[in-house]
Amino acid sequence: MSSVASELRTALAVAVAGFPERDLAAATAELVARYRQPRAAQAAILSSEVRVAAYAAYRMPATQAAVQRVLDELAGHGFEPRTMLDLGGGTGAAAWAAAGSFATLESIRVVDQVPQALQLGRRLVAEASSSALRAASFERAVVGALPTAGADLVIASYVLSELSAAQTASLLEDMTARGRVAVVVEPGTPDGYERILGARSHFLARGWHLLGPCPHASTCPLVGRDWCHFAARVNRSAEHRRIKGGDLSYEDEKFSWVAAAAPDVVEQGVHTGDGRILRRPVKRKGLVEFQVCRPDGTAGRSVVSKREGERYRAARDREWGDTVPG
Ligand SMILES: C[S@@+](CC[C@H](N)C(=O)[O-])C[C@H]1O[C@@H](n2cnc3c(N)ncnc32)[C@H](O)[C@@H]1O
Repeated sequence: MSSVASELRTALAVAVAGFPERDLAAATAELVARYRQPRAAQAAILSSEVRVAAYAAYRMPATQAAVQRVLDELAGHGFEPRTMLDLGGGTGAAAWAAAGSFATLESIRVVDQVPQALQLGRRLVAEASSSALRAASFERAVVGALPTAGADLVIASYVLSELSAAQTASLLEDMTARGRVAVVVEPGTPDGYERILGARSHFLARGWHLLGPCPHASTCPLVGRDWCHFAARVNRSAEHRRIKGGDLSYEDEKFSWVAAAAPDVVEQGVHTGDGRILRRPVKRKGLVEFQVCRPDGTAGRSVVSKREGERYRAARDREWGDTVPG
């Protein structure tokens, strides 16, 4: 577990300690049921302190891990943001992830409609070791009337499913108006992927360059036959197991994502080698078999054999969500 993830765990354990376990478990069950039906929220889903605490305890480690996986990749490509805007940031999971990926961050603004989520977010960062995270601002605003200041990095993680089509269009417009690099993360479900496709189309229509996961800007080759999603391994804490039930010590958070950069940030998207690995690779003696999305806009099977020497050695270390060595 990254040090940010374990710091977050500690902060969460302290923050939810005051709530009776029974109430947290009941609120968690309500949230699980609600998030299983993706549709625009008529009223805020995080509607009470106990629901916010339950969300933080059972979802935040997972959403933080998914966003972290994406941001670590951008950091690996040399992206060094100083400022960040977390839209629909709730209790600040994406802000924690950004602090974990970018030592360059100086200013973090988390914006959300729910005051109780913002309050909890503020409490969670109070003892964080990252000075940018400790100083993060948590501000109340609703989609359609978001702060106008720009940022190097703008994130919307696990937000679009709660928005109407008009709100989604407004949020995406705000992302390209305010950000230099924009990241959208959604649950790794067929409908989460649909929403990611919508965000991808928006970025491309504004002339932005895709940074990932797509190795091309053509039509997604998975449309109509599969959905593009990845997984982040999350260790479950004892509280998590108590309030959500289940014995496994980990879970795989499935997520879909897209990241894009404004035209003046990069002249073209980051080169993602020979493509993106879409499933867990099958590793057999002498060969590694991948399902990949390729730079030529196709998707399918790709095999790297031992005869390819260095490329084979690199391929053996690659996992679902990584790029295929070129
Ligand atoms: C599932 S939570 C995700 C929170 C956080 N981004 C994460 O990854 O854990 C969705 C968040 O979007 C916020 N939200 C939904 N509709 C909103 C709106 N119209 N304006 C502002 N925030 C909104 C909710 O209050 C909630 O905090």
